[in-house]
Amino acid sequence: MSVSCDPDIPGRRYLMCEPRFFEVRYAINPWMNAGAPVDIALAHAQWQTLAQAYRDHGHTVETVAPVEDLPDMVFAANAAFVVDGKVFGSFFHAPERRPESNAYETWFKAAGFDVHRPHAVCEGEGDFVAAGQIILAGTGFRTQRSAHREAQDLFGKPVISLQLVDPRFYHLDTALFFLGEETGDSDGNIVYYPSAFSRDSCKVLRHIYPDALIATEGDAVAFGLNSVSDGRHVFIAPQARDLTGQLADRGFVPVPIDLSEFRKAGGGIKCCTQEIR
Ligand code: ARG
Repeated sequence: MSVSCDPDIPGRRYLMCEPRFFEVRYAINPWMNAGAPVDIALAHAQWQTLAQAYRDHGHTVETVAPVEDLPDMVFAANAAFVVDGKVFGSFFHAPERRPESNAYETWFKAAGFDVHRPHAVCEGEGDFVAAGQIILAGTGFRTQRSAHREAQDLFGKPVISLQLVDPRFYHLDTALFFLGEETGDSDGNIVYYPSAFSRDSCKVLRHIYPDALIATEGDAVAFGLNSVSDGRHVFIAPQARDLTGQLADRGFVPVPIDLSEFRKAGGGIKCCTQEIR
């Protein structure tokens, strides 16, 4: 596939983990059925398609070596949250995933970063979204509120805590994504699925983003909120049809990437992508 890179869109740096040992071995979210068969060849092909799409759009993809017996390690987003070159590591809720933190920490250290280890349960970009001058942070199912405060101290940016209430959308990145600061207004804009949040958190989101795009339940269950935006292109699940149309109407360029095999583990495009800022 050849796509002309957009000179106005700065290339992003993405960290991914090849799904060599990916499987659905245990169930820690409502999408997972322990032992559900995964088509590993298809999972590989889908993952490669995503990595290639990033490269084709001018972004850099780096990879961390997958570790045997860590079937969810492919979900690189959960291992850390990186802003201004500062790495806030992870402390997973599920004991099965805890060893992933070390594997990613080793990668970050070898790449020249210091890693700040959280004291509270904290699942990286699964629950933290860098939104320009502020950070949006989810809690309710995984990341604890005290980790939000740790992040605020580390990054020196205001962290807005948001309460997740629907177990299907257990991470913030399954319910909301940031479109970028290139969206016309300087604070940038977001897309979210309101029913995934408490009423109070919806009020906060409406206050900060009066012009946000609102996703439907169909978009949300298709993992359409688990998208990656570079400010113009939005890498998005093709099943999120309404949202894809809304994005195109607002001048974004949807890039459909099907990660159906990863949905069996409750993951999608954003889950497989750690952005290093
Ligand atoms: N099976 C993984 C879990 O439940 C999926 C993680 C998806 N990652 C994400 N960023 N939402 O922890």
